[in-house]
Amino acid sequence: MAFPTETVYGLGAAAEDPAALERLFAAKGRPRSHPVIVHGADMSVLARYGDGWPPLAETLAGAFWPGPLTLVVTRSDAVLDAVSGGQNTVGLRVPDHPVALGLLEAFGSGVAAPSANRFGRISPTSADAVRSEFGQVVAAILDGGAPTIGIESTVLDLTGPQPSILRPGAISAADLAEIVGRPVGRMERDEGPRAPGRMAAHYAPHARLELIAPDQLQERAAELRDTGARIAVLSPEPASVPGAVLVADHLEHDSRYAHELYATMRRADAAGVDVILAIPPTGSGLAEAVRDRLQRASSSEPAAGGR
Ligand code: TXA
Ligand code: MG
Repeated sequence: MAFPTETVYGLGAAAEDPAALERLFAAKGRPRSHPVIVHGADMSVLARYGDGWPPLAETLAGAFWPGPLTLVVTRSDAVLDAVSGGQNTVGLRVPDHPVALGLLEAFGSGVAAPSANRFGRISPTSADAVRSEFGQVVAAILDGGAPTIGIESTVLDLTGPQPSILRPGAISAADLAEIVGRPVGRMERDEGPRAPGRMAAHYAPHARLELIAPDQLQERAAELRDTGARIAVLSPEPASVPGAVLVADHLEHDSRYAHELYATMRRADAAGVDVILAIPPTGSGLAEAVRDRLQRASSSEPAAGGR
């Protein structure tokens, strides 16, 4: 069953039911070695999936759950290999969304849920987007409208010598450092094989995405127009681009950029856009997470497993 969260829609399966997990991986077309996040209604539901519950996890969960933070801790015996991708760790999260929490409370234990998209594709930010990914394969989709955030949770690894961000999200390095009491690290992209969301060329639309500086927008757009390409534009500032099929501008606030990012990519694909010209947001915090997704979407490397 698919359900809304404050980040993106998730596709859920009972975390302790091997048959349900099997169907989940098959539907997503996701390689077995890639771990999925276990979602729960509260810390007490999730703590038992950790091998012991480190004081730092307790502190961070207390500060940020429910919310867009996934904590990676050493796993307990309650975690199936299918969930952890065969690693000795597990990612845990309490989402901040009434529909998700209602579902998780009613269910009572862990729900393994990746984003509700096929492997390598854009995370869905509407029930319609989930339907277009999976059609009838998914038994039910709970429609909660558009998620408030629009990009995936921050993933924080607590199993190393110091806490380290594996995937940036709405909870920033500065937010985390304030609670942890010291700086948190940032795992550079492709440093390790652990997180599929960390591979270049993840979150990619069918259209080619080009990152562009504001002062190059008009020239590049004109160039592409001359080749007959259908173009879309993502811009923090107001932008008027003659001939563009789709313009998402006025994204000055990073929260708005995050909110519109995946929806715009999907609309561009639906409109048969060939090239998306994206001016990345500047600054830290959520802007960093948006730039991370834009960079991945602009990568020319094909996603492992195909698109
Ligand atoms: O916002 C979100 O996190 C959404 C909603 C549905 O909660 N979920 C989501 O799941 O984005 P997914 O599977 O698309 O991405 C989960 C990310 C991946 O990058 C995965 O590798 C990482 O979390 N992850 C999960 N478990 C992990 C683990 N044990 N060690 C390292 N990374 C892990
Ligand atoms: Mg995903």
